[in-house]
Amino acid sequence: MEVIIQKDAEAASQLTAALIARALEVKPHLALGLATGRTMERLYSILAEKHHQERLDFSLAVTFNLDEYIGLPPEDPNSYRSYMNRHLFNRINIDRRNTFLPNGLAPDLDAECRLYEERIRDFGGIDLQLLGIGRVGHIGFNEPLSAMQSRTRCKALTPETVAENSRLFDDPAKMPKRAITMGVGTILECKRCLMLVTGKEKAAIVAKAVEGPITSMISASALQLHPRCTVIVDEDAASALQHGEYYRWIFENEEEWEHFRR
Ligand code: F6R
Repeated sequence: MEVIIQKDAEAASQLTAALIARALEVKPHLALGLATGRTMERLYSILAEKHHQERLDFSLAVTFNLDEYIGLPPEDPNSYRSYMNRHLFNRINIDRRNTFLPNGLAPDLDAECRLYEERIRDFGGIDLQLLGIGRVGHIGFNEPLSAMQSRTRCKALTPETVAENSRLFDDPAKMPKRAITMGVGTILECKRCLMLVTGKEKAAIVAKAVEGPITSMISASALQLHPRCTVIVDEDAASALQHGEYYRWIFENEEEWEHFRR
């Protein structure tokens, strides 16, 4: 795992966007794993700007989202499909047929989960998976006690996650209490993981995930097992890390990061 500390949320989002843009340039038919949530909104705006101003081309890319609520139609403004259309897909030149989210309205949800895994496999696996972290330490909706080898499945959301996310619903009571999510095992199979975390309220959990013991109580800690995981944090989110100086030194000195230093 490598940790990159940027001065603020804007710089962290810019760096994450630059890494995604680089991956797309190297492999135009990139299989890109996507996340939703407040943290990703600015990142998606930057990617849309790169598309318009720098001709960043998404036409051959394929995307797989981590999760979707069970029971919300895609056109519901609170569904993750709507979120993705609004924040990214409507603003770039991606072929909509190549954008995948689990179908939370499927009549057979277990079959839908299996199909989602098969589809990822059919496209050769996910090249780069973007991740955020929830206050309970989830990645996707892998709530505490999610098995390290879990696959795409239906998951009941913790009261903390419901409280956190229902604030985005006009009627919080309408927030589904279950979702389909890629599993921790699915995420660990992605070729590269990029986790973006900003804000003071994430400082404690990101420190546990990155520097604490690996535990299914904090799904994001499983990323310590991933051979190529980069965690990009702003100063606020980095404030509880024990080895911040070391991470800064690596970013400032390693050749690999030269192109991305400002
Ligand atoms: C959603 C997802 C979640 C979020 C996490 C952080 O697709 O994968 O794990 O990344 O809940 O959400 P925000 O950014 O709203 O704090």
